[in-house]
Amino acid sequence: MYKSSLKEEFHDSAKLHVTGRAVYVDDIPVPSNCLHILLGLSTIANGKITKMELDEVKKIPGIIDAITADDIKGVNDASPIFGDDPIFAEGDVYYNGQVIFGVIAESLEVAKIAIKKAKITYSEIPPIITLDQARNEKSLLCPPKEVLRGNFAAAIENCAHFIDGEISIGGQEHFYLEGQVALAVPRENREIQIFVSSQHPSEIQHKVANVLCLPFHNVSVEVRRMGGAFGGKESQANLPACIVAIAAQKTGRPCKLVYDRDDDMRITGKRHDFVSTYKVGFDKNGIIEALRIQHDMRCGMSMDLSGAIAERALMHSENCYYIPNVQFIANLYKTNTPSNTAFRGFGGPQGMLVMERIIDEIAHFLKLDPLMLRKRNFYADRQKSSQQEQETPYGQNVRDCVINDLIAKLEKSSNYQNRRKEINKLNKTSDAIKRGIAITPVKFGISFNKTMLNQAGALVNLYSDGSVYLNHGGTEMGQGLFTKVRKIVADTFGISSQSVKISATDTNKVPNTSATAASSGTDLNGMAAYVAASQIKDRMTAYLSQLYQCDISDVVFSSGKIIISGEEKMTFSQAAEQCWMGRVSLSSTGFYKTPDIYWDAEKGKGRPFYYFVYGAAVSEVVLDTLTGENRVIRVDILHDVGRSINPAIDKGQIEGGFVQGLGWLSMEELVYGSDGTLMTHSPATYKIPACSDSPIEWNVDFYKSDGNLEETINRSKAVGEPPFMLAMSVFFAFSHALASINKEYPSLDSPATAEQLYFKQRGSLQE
Ligand code: MTE
Ligand code: HPA
Ligand code: MOS
Repeated sequence: MYKSSLKEEFHDSAKLHVTGRAVYVDDIPVPSNCLHILLGLSTIANGKITKMELDEVKKIPGIIDAITADDIKGVNDASPIFGDDPIFAEGDVYYNGQVIFGVIAESLEVAKIAIKKAKITYSEIPPIITLDQARNEKSLLCPPKEVLRGNFAAAIENCAHFIDGEISIGGQEHFYLEGQVALAVPRENREIQIFVSSQHPSEIQHKVANVLCLPFHNVSVEVRRMGGAFGGKESQANLPACIVAIAAQKTGRPCKLVYDRDDDMRITGKRHDFVSTYKVGFDKNGIIEALRIQHDMRCGMSMDLSGAIAERALMHSENCYYIPNVQFIANLYKTNTPSNTAFRGFGGPQGMLVMERIIDEIAHFLKLDPLMLRKRNFYADRQKSSQQEQETPYGQNVRDCVINDLIAKLEKSSNYQNRRKEINKLNKTSDAIKRGIAITPVKFGISFNKTMLNQAGALVNLYSDGSVYLNHGGTEMGQGLFTKVRKIVADTFGISSQSVKISATDTNKVPNTSATAASSGTDLNGMAAYVAASQIKDRMTAYLSQLYQCDISDVVFSSGKIIISGEEKMTFSQAAEQCWMGRVSLSSTGFYKTPDIYWDAEKGKGRPFYYFVYGAAVSEVVLDTLTGENRVIRVDILHDVGRSINPAIDKGQIEGGFVQGLGWLSMEELVYGSDGTLMTHSPATYKIPACSDSPIEWNVDFYKSDGNLEETINRSKAVGEPPFMLAMSVFFAFSHALASINKEYPSLDSPATAEQLYFKQRGSLQE
């Protein structure tokens, strides 16, 4: 099995990133005949296009053509699954910001002038924008989804206490630094090459082929890197890729499309906002017996990935807690807004936030420290449990649980108890300034929750000079996947990472891949690359052992050298050349599929996740109740990354995820007008965390263990998404701060903006 070397490594593109030399799609030098596309967007949210006049647009010098749905040879669809995302509106429009047509121009400047000449007339239908409207109209995309266990209705009757409530949870704009972008270059024989910022090159290939009526092998897709994606480029890069492909097919020239920030925010879907209602029954000690949660989700105008997102939300609604009687329901509402999509956590954050809110509220009701209540309801740690109490409501055994031990360690290292006491004391005497502290746990399931997606491929070439070329199906979005996979290959050959060339993800090299998503990039592609490299190494070992008449176990690859029967015989490069001369194949593909996972859709039970990731955070906040102004002054994180392949990258993911989560829960607010206009369509009105919003004091540590219980690569654990949810501690620290002012439970909604924090306590003070 692979065991990672302890070499510390920078992100492979770190120097390129900080010197501005990393090439993103918009930086690729284009042929001189390249054309530029600008999109015409709907200004109404619901209705029909009665007339579209583009002749005046086409008359402007420098305009080559305009494209609409009529120019699509194949299928007018950019959706990932359900066929319900038109590329160009065809008659009907479903949201304000929907793409109706494109202008193809010699330059973007000309396009911007010409597009104003377009005349579109509509007949409008009153749109459904808010969740409230959708509920009233019963505007559902599909039947509700459920996770059920036991008998909620009977159990709740027998509980000593119950609470019901509601929480509204806002959406979130991805705000990747690099917006959506695509470039199509037509080649000979109806071949076309697409450069795009996408997490899912294979899906881009398939969608473009279907749009152009071409077999998949005519379309090649290349992705070297993305300037951030966060789920926003799992399915929604399909649209710009399809548009440049249509334009290139029509004009026979290279075509490029770059969404500017405002268009990007208007066109693309976001994290789903939820309104979740709950009813929970518990005993006098706060042990939860029965829980019903109904998640109402705003999905937007089409399905996109909402089905899988709803399922992940349901499968994370119990977070770390064993609850015998469970009724979790998700309603997927259709609205005239952009189609909401994957975003770090994929429904998990919303599910968990509701659960943590319920715990916080029960603690308030029973006048207990919420941490005590959390501990009382946790799944038991490994081996300390009776089987049944370890099962999630969807039937998966939580056999790798460490949350009790992890929380105990964090409670101690963060000095939580003393600090909470201090804060409670301080809040009694401090008038305007209040503090709050909270500790929240995370348990996050790793694997795509669609079993078939858990597969990956890789290609490794060893050249006769000993240099290695690496390709795999994963994509790089800043998360450090390429750096990790490169190290796995280098370690396998016993050479330095510098000897391994990372290459752009390319559908011609590794076909039929899954999106880089569900945090599983390294688990899947790292293992596939390991398999490929190991096969080459095994062939070399066999050849060299024959040459030197020794056992294969006497051939050792170490520090760029080949040691045979304890003697240093040659460099790795010399070995590569020798093997080539001996006609040994030095190229290999590798394939990996996650073992032991399955799902019975009929029963709604199975083992959808290979394992769980655990973590917890303690956040302390300070709040000025006269203004609502606030700051996270300290955060302590203990997070389980298994046996790390690259600790610096893992730490970066933890900190980055936390800050992104903090933004979602405390400041990022999306506002749609009643006509479906996104009012918050630029950084001027949409507030993401700045450096100055990040916690003043950080204490981030890895949970120490022997590594993943399962045989993942290096026994590491996925790290991309789980830390996002550690930011729930910030939300409940605000709740703690407010609880010192009000008698009743401060039912915060998310985001807990400065305004909300201000009005919450003020409203109550007036009573
Ligand atoms: N980190 C950076 N810097 N940029 C990103 O876009 N996306 C996140 C996470 N971390 C993201 C990131 C999301 S949503 C996922 S699913 C994982 O990275 C995907 O990569 P992995 O599977 O290699 O962890
Ligand atoms: N995460 C991200 N994308 C997905 C998933 C998931 O769990 N399932 C299907 N697509
Ligand atoms: Mo991440 S939301 O699975 O791309």
